[in-house]
Amino acid sequence: MIIAIDGPAASGKGTLARRLAVRYGLRHLDTGMLYRAVARAVIDAGADVADPAARLAAARALDAAQLRDAASLREPGMGEAASIVAADPAVRAEILAFQRDFANRPPGAVLDGRDIGSVVCPNADAKIFVTAAPEARAERRWRELAGNGAEISYEQVLDDIRRRDARDTSRAVAPLRPADDAHLLDTTDLDIEAAFRAAVDLISGS
Ligand code: CDP
Repeated sequence: MIIAIDGPAASGKGTLARRLAVRYGLRHLDTGMLYRAVARAVIDAGADVADPAARLAAARALDAAQLRDAASLREPGMGEAASIVAADPAVRAEILAFQRDFANRPPGAVLDGRDIGSVVCPNADAKIFVTAAPEARAERRWRELAGNGAEISYEQVLDDIRRRDARDTSRAVAPLRPADDAHLLDTTDLDIEAAFRAAVDLISGS
């Protein structure tokens, strides 16, 4: 069984995907972490995420062990850097096989990202596109970052989310958009528990 969860920044797709994986006994992959890890590797090598050769080399060298330091990959600024490397088709092509291998290993998996239902796993058993108003997403992400001690304002988080939404939606390859057969789930007024129940209902009906 493969479940594809897509949506814009801080829509709650990660939390939802983790809970669905437990519910259905599946493995979980947060694919945003792959792009974050590529961006981190470029920066740690002293290079610039705008440099195509540097980001392609980092994508080719990507290893699952680089995903372990989740806190550093979630630092403010890394989402923006990830969305710059993620707009590069060569980087996306490198990362595609890793994601498909993960999805196809038994008993299956829940993958969350931007293009899981549209590109990575077009044959997924269930596809959900999670949305929420930018202000609601910024509020959630700001609470999360501030709770982890980051010094960042709500306005800065909202700006980052708007900029990434624009880049992720307008890029030429694998733009952020719902697959034709995805269920839409708007979580603006739903807490985690309500969003989880709504997702299980959608999956039962798939
Ligand atoms: O957690 P959040 O929604 O803020 O971001 P993320 O899911 O970790 O993704 C970081 C960035 O990676 C996004 O802004 C996208 O540009 C990119 N990404 C992508 O292009 N395709 C995916 N399947 C997942 C993430």
